[in-house]
Amino acid sequence: MDNKEIMLEALRGVEDPELHQDIVSLGMVKDLQVSPEKAVHLTIALTQEGCPLKHEIGNNAKQALLNAGATNVIIQFGKLSEEEKKKIFANRQVPEQKPIQKGSIKHILAVGSGKGGVGKSTVVTNLAIALHQKGWKVGVLDADVLGPNIPTMFQIQKKAFSQGEHIVPIVNHGVKVMSIGFLLPDDNTPVIWRGPMISSSIEQLFEMTLWEELDILLIDLPPGTSDTMLTVAQALPIDGGLVITTPSKVSENDATKFLKTFEKLNVPLYGIIENMSYFIAPDTQKRYDLFGTGGGQRISQLSNIPLIGQIPFEMETGACGNGEEPVVVSCPASSSAQAFSKIAELLMSQLTKSK
Ligand SMILES: Nc1ncnc2c1ncn2[C@@H]1O[C@H](COP(=O)(O)OP(=O)(O)OP(=O)(O)O)[C@@H](O)[C@H]1O
Ligand SMILES: [Mg+2]
Repeated sequence: MDNKEIMLEALRGVEDPELHQDIVSLGMVKDLQVSPEKAVHLTIALTQEGCPLKHEIGNNAKQALLNAGATNVIIQFGKLSEEEKKKIFANRQVPEQKPIQKGSIKHILAVGSGKGGVGKSTVVTNLAIALHQKGWKVGVLDADVLGPNIPTMFQIQKKAFSQGEHIVPIVNHGVKVMSIGFLLPDDNTPVIWRGPMISSSIEQLFEMTLWEELDILLIDLPPGTSDTMLTVAQALPIDGGLVITTPSKVSENDATKFLKTFEKLNVPLYGIIENMSYFIAPDTQKRYDLFGTGGGQRISQLSNIPLIGQIPFEMETGACGNGEEPVVVSCPASSSAQAFSKIAELLMSQLTKSK
């Protein structure tokens, strides 16, 4: 073998980390020149300009050449032509994606509303704790990657730590909780991601978390009928959903959209929960229908999905939004906590029957 062949052979040991094939057979090595003193000059043509793997591939190629006896290595980067790329991708088989497994989780329910700010995270937090208080093993996954509120509502300030390939959920109020918030340096760091990154991060959070055995996992969805909702409904092994609405017309409309999207995706809906249903003034005991009446009932009649609870607007219930104790812990005798307790019981009997 002459020097050039030796260097080419060395480059065959360098893989494109994404395509899992060596850079020589992918046709990425161009203009390879080797001087008699074994100084090597070559161009590596990448699939795209500014390829994020550029440095990794370049460093690996350089190391392989030095190991093969090169005295000096100069690498330039170029771009594969459209024709060359087509050839590479035409010969590739798209690896079949393994469906994500449920593991030892008995029931997985996604909680959404369509509309923002109607109390999804508040309901998820209190319902999860209520289910735990009744003896179930409960987990919560915060799928609101761009605006994770679950850490505050669960009063968790800790960061998650990993164990091998897994991340250990943080337990508070008896519930195993996982949120991207546990992986960020602080609460004010925004996550600026586009749809595909968000979707894959939710799948990863679900898969990497050491949930172990759970009776139920509640997933807190972000507002809207977005990519996230589609990912949760299609890529995660969920059993069904819960819809949160307020009595108001706008919330009713958005909840109906949410509900129809889940129906289209063949995800069964276990119930509608109306939040902020009414307000009883603590001083006068007078009832105020702050956001109108009947939203939950109307959706239930139209969709045939049971209205499984009505939670009043109470200051103690809003407290967890400020990082204070969730109402089912701080005021178990309050109307909200009683409503959460009833919903938990209904859900437990419904889910136990369905399996
Ligand atoms: N029943 C209630 N009584 C009083 N305050 C409530 C009640 N439900 C929710 N809140 C408060 O309303 C605000 C919005 O609630 P929450 O964050 O749970 O809504 P969300 O639907 O999860 O919002 P987003 O769409 O932004 O995720 C919070 O400040 C919360 O504390
Ligand atoms: Mg929320």
